Amino acid sequence: MRDPRERAGAVQYLELNGVRTAVEVHGDGLAVLFIHGFPLDRTIWHQVVAPLTGYHRIVPDLAGFGLSEPSDEEHGIAGYADDMSAVLDQLAVDRAVVCGLSMGGYVAFDLVRRFPKRVVGLVLVNTRADADGLDARARREEMMRQVRERGTSSLVDAMLPALLAPETVVTMPGLVDALRAMIGSASPTGVVAALRAMKERADSTPLLRQISVPTLVVAGRDDQLIPVDQSRAMAERIPGAQFTVIPGAGHLAPMEQPVATTRVLGEFLESLV
Ligand code: MLT
Repeated sequence: MRDPRERAGAVQYLELNGVRTAVEVHGDGLAVLFIHGFPLDRTIWHQVVAPLTGYHRIVPDLAGFGLSEPSDEEHGIAGYADDMSAVLDQLAVDRAVVCGLSMGGYVAFDLVRRFPKRVVGLVLVNTRADADGLDARARREEMMRQVRERGTSSLVDAMLPALLAPETVVTMPGLVDALRAMIGSASPTGVVAALRAMKERADSTPLLRQISVPTLVVAGRDDQLIPVDQSRAMAERIPGAQFTVIPGAGHLAPMEQPVATTRVLGEFLESLV
């Protein structure tokens, strides 16, 4: 029987270095690769991907999230970027606009760093370029310990309040429930691998000045994890980058404000074709 998290017919399974990886693929045209954040899955993009007809939309679950099997614990951000490049290979796509949310943005930076010819445009949503400091690294270690001991449900209370704008928590109880289920169903192995990958990720700040493709930076006005000023400063370092703030959005603009997020993304993509 089909997994209820699949949407009829849209999910394909690709074998990436022996790891079964789920990818949703829709439409034709300019390819756009959507990379989700932590500890989430590809469904965070659903409300944005559906209306963006006219593009070849590629929406994978990173290893260990959603319907994808976990990889080993040492995977690293480079491992996810290699996976994304392999997804493009298997779909016979040479180049794509890469759209990453938060951890997906860390993966997008690595694609720009190591596969620059594949990236024709960049959308950085609710993400940051700098690496973890000492405190953040210690928090990752503590989360890894808790997930190993108590599973991913331990992440729900630790993360949920910070992911959403305070207003969203009140106005969108259905979204709160959906996120609770999504986080709780992530594989502990996948979550620990992602925490380690984020803890060890490189500082991408020096890369910003070298980004030469059209770039859109999207911030949530009420993002509690990445303040708007930090996103604006990141955009200012990227030559020619556009910067947009979405009102009423926290760290998950595509879910909290899908209409506004789709509009800015659609306008940006239109400017590329
Ligand atoms: C995410 O949304 O992907 C995470 O908040 C990123 C992080 O923890 O650094």
